[in-house]
Amino acid sequence: MKLLWFVLVIIVHLSVALVPPEFQWKAVDFAWKFNTREAAVSSGDYIPENNMPAGIARWHDKLFITIPRWKEANVRQVGAPAILVFDLHENKLLHRHEFNDDVLKESSVLTGIVVENLGPCPCDSFAYIPDMGSNALIVYNLEQNDAWRIENQYFHFDPHSSVYNVGGVEFYWNDGISTAVLSPPRKGHRDIYFHPTSSTKQFRVSSKLLKDKNIPREVLFGAVEVIGDRGPLSQATAADLDLVHNVMFYSQLSRNGISCWNTEKAMTKENVPLILSDCVLLEFPNDVKIDHENNLWILSNRQSRFLYDTLNHSVVNFRILKAPASTLIKGTPCEKMSPIQKAISFIKNT
Ligand SMILES: *[C@@H]1O[C@H](CO)[C@@H](O)[C@H](O)[C@H]1NC(C)=O
Repeated sequence: MKLLWFVLVIIVHLSVALVPPEFQWKAVDFAWKFNTREAAVSSGDYIPENNMPAGIARWHDKLFITIPRWKEANVRQVGAPAILVFDLHENKLLHRHEFNDDVLKESSVLTGIVVENLGPCPCDSFAYIPDMGSNALIVYNLEQNDAWRIENQYFHFDPHSSVYNVGGVEFYWNDGISTAVLSPPRKGHRDIYFHPTSSTKQFRVSSKLLKDKNIPREVLFGAVEVIGDRGPLSQATAADLDLVHNVMFYSQLSRNGISCWNTEKAMTKENVPLILSDCVLLEFPNDVKIDHENNLWILSNRQSRFLYDTLNHSVVNFRILKAPASTLIKGTPCEKMSPIQKAISFIKNT
């Protein structure tokens, strides 16, 4: 009976937290100027079926969705990889930095960007860009308009975590570092939580070290902390930190869902619970982001079918879901610790 009750509580919790999608699409297209779409389709320059939303970010009343040209990528590259800086109030491109050849490799795949502002002046800004395809972190200094490449053993995949089965499709990914998340500031710097996609471990390093473009590889290697392991089948393409509760949220490919971890607790399998799971709504949750109102946004896109099988465009394939972080963690091990729990955790960790 006890076990049954436990199971019931979990089911109730999941169904309460799983809100209907904010947006969902069978296919996505662009708003074309004039009637150029038809010509682009008939010439083969534009293949609408190749559109797959992959990334998401919210800023006030704007929701940004990235649609990479993955299926055409190995045919031709249209533009050089670059950082673009926009003024969102004015909808204006302020700055563009194209990466030099020495920053990238043939196999580079840039999966995201996080920005660290050290002071009120935008000139104190750094950006960190995981290069999943060639196991590196690219660091960019806006003031000096300079970018450098940092390599490390911790940026590589773990062979034990390279087998996936999502949406009925089995595949092998040797994907390196794909996610970098900044902690709150501490002594003028932040920590960067990072992990490779094909891994179940969580790592952390001070951003201070990454700002030194000549940091010796062994110094960085010695400074990386291994935080813990989220447990089997917990590979994550994305993660983001809720700074109100100090809780990290992870996409969970192999479990069609989302897990969380309270960064004040030890990272163990028990402390990284699966808080959302649905094999339809959350088939391949590719990106997660926390917005300024502390909502978690999730984008799921059936990516394994898109890449290795086919999408059925008669049914919904792409979904965007949103829920307040506080609702998602309520009653889970990710909730804030009481002062007594904090003291026990502190004693255990020291
Ligand atoms: C696509 O989905 C529709 C609607 O569910 C279904 O009728 C059709 O058989 C599916 N097509 C394929 C090729 O599976």
